[in-house]
Amino acid sequence: MIVGVGRETAAGERRVAITPDAVRALRRASVEVLVEAGAGVAAGFPDGEYEAAGARIEPDVSKIRGDSQVLLSVRGLEAEAIGSLGPGAVLIGLLRPLEDPQTAQALAKAGVTSFAMELMPRITRAQSMDALSSQSNLAGYRSVLLASVTIGKAFPMMVTAAGTISPARVLVLGAGVAGLQAIATARRLGARVEAYDVRPAVKEQVESLGARFVELEIETADAETAGGYAKEQSDDYYQRQQALLGERVQAADVVITTALVPGKKAPRLIDEGTVRGMRPGSIIVDLAASHGGNCWGARPDETVDVNGVLILGPTNLPSEVPFHASQMYSRNISSFLLHLTTEGTLTIDLEDEITRAPLVTHQGSIMNETVRTLAEGAAS
Ligand code: NAI
Repeated sequence: MIVGVGRETAAGERRVAITPDAVRALRRASVEVLVEAGAGVAAGFPDGEYEAAGARIEPDVSKIRGDSQVLLSVRGLEAEAIGSLGPGAVLIGLLRPLEDPQTAQALAKAGVTSFAMELMPRITRAQSMDALSSQSNLAGYRSVLLASVTIGKAFPMMVTAAGTISPARVLVLGAGVAGLQAIATARRLGARVEAYDVRPAVKEQVESLGARFVELEIETADAETAGGYAKEQSDDYYQRQQALLGERVQAADVVITTALVPGKKAPRLIDEGTVRGMRPGSIIVDLAASHGGNCWGARPDETVDVNGVLILGPTNLPSEVPFHASQMYSRNISSFLLHLTTEGTLTIDLEDEITRAPLVTHQGSIMNETVRTLAEGAAS
């Protein structure tokens, strides 16, 4: 089997789907790897390292697409490239099928079998393939660094001859994978950290990282699904939450928001009045900006200035840590590919949960029911 890896084409994307280490693992499983010349350079992996690991470097991406049975990507392919794939080609990547069902439709029409890494089931057996976690982890880390270089204050307490600087106050809203890493990073930088999540179960994890858990006087008995995700709450609940959180938000120098509810618009946690009441110079980093934002006024990939309060809405922070983001993603995607491979041949077993859950399109159809409904809605 030949597997192809092209250079990512999305604007600003610096990650690469496969690193030389993963090439070695695939070669051991009798998989041939074709890598587009320069594909790993922006992430810190030169062509020579791929060659040394046993990959073939190919300057012509259309040849890679033509010769490979499976294409591995970070962000999928553009419409034009999808049209050039032969029926039966396999594409694996972070394909955002729930946000972009039209691309799923195009993949089905082209007869491509596609797998979206973000739909991987979060079960123990698939932990090494959990790209959502690996990338969220780095997004959480990077969000704190971004805030630290944007704010006009230092994070740690400093006792100097010129006076004492008190530690920055950081509030993290949403303590899932990204939020917990944001807490850990802010603590390492010496900030005083508070965190809040609608799931009371995370209190212990927050405290074990040295942060204070903010408790709101609001009923959170039914906040968590069996899989550990947050459940959507009523509008009334969110309004009360915003009102109660307002005071904590206004006391903070930096607020990092990471709250998501799978398949829904991001919950609004910070309202306009709260932003307007914050001290000028405060920073909000809204990691949910591409899902509608946790904070009023947040816009994807923009910095919004509200009377000196800056709201940042970065949508691709993992790409700003491209070496390690690629290393982890590459581990995720190559583990998945090896899961699908037996003696160098790809097998698609629709009875297998790890194969079936991320499968978006196969044999001309959209296989994921939610994506199919969304695609039909978009087409009508
Ligand atoms: P996520 O990205 O969907 O959400 C981020 C956080 O936002 C969650 O902690 C959620 O509770 C919180 N949130 C949602 N609505 C909120 C609101 N109104 N106010 C405050 N916070 C709100 O979740 P993520 O980070 O992908 O993972 C969440 C959980 O999933 C983990 O804590 C864990 O239990 C489970 N998980 C399981 C894994 C496994 O078993 N392999 C791997 C990763 C996560």
